[in-house]
Amino acid sequence: MKNIVLLISGRGSNMEAIVHACAREGWPARIAAVISNKATAAGLAFAAGHGIPTAVVDHKGFDSREAFDAELARVIDGFAPDVVVLAGFMRILTEGFVRHYEGRLLNIHPSLLPAFPGLHTHQRAIDAGCKVAGATVHFVTPELDHGPIVAQAVVPVQPDDTEESLSARVLSQEHLIYPQAVRWLVEGALSVDPQGRVSHRQGQAQAVFKA
Ligand code: GAR
Repeated sequence: MKNIVLLISGRGSNMEAIVHACAREGWPARIAAVISNKATAAGLAFAAGHGIPTAVVDHKGFDSREAFDAELARVIDGFAPDVVVLAGFMRILTEGFVRHYEGRLLNIHPSLLPAFPGLHTHQRAIDAGCKVAGATVHFVTPELDHGPIVAQAVVPVQPDDTEESLSARVLSQEHLIYPQAVRWLVEGALSVDPQGRVSHRQGQAQAVFKA
């Protein structure tokens, strides 16, 4: 049984999708904990309601990123994680933290990376006149919203899209690719080549196109 630790900052809908998929599909894994940097994160109630241990490490109580990340890692490591999943965890992480979890730390970002790292991705895609948008699951490296790409989902941008309508379309695909990617990592099905390109050992498709 592998231990999965999920980190959230808010709503936690990706966390919910992963919790449900792990149970429904009988992964060789358990959700060991859900940890938030915000005590008010809505997702904590869902986790507690499903009998999952929760913890809060509030970044506001620390003088530096290094001090916060050190305490966060101490709490995470208390759950003996095999895989650490950033699910809407809105903190920039230090290089030391990222290196500590190298190869077992995943993130989802609501754009087709390497396009639009950072915030306000949907509005930036609309403003740029993009015809497609999407989401990316990637291994985390010290560079923000960067790292070997595990899976992507592609959705159309409609002429009348708003930030809200586009983010909802992308989010529904996030809920498909993120559980899939976490499962692949748990199962040891991913390999990364020297150029940082990720492939699935059995050649499973790593992109979803939603027309
Ligand atoms: C998701 O859209 C996720 O891709 C994004 O935050 C949202 C969290 O929603 N993450 C980032 O922007 C990270 N750079 P959720 O809390 O309902 O899963």
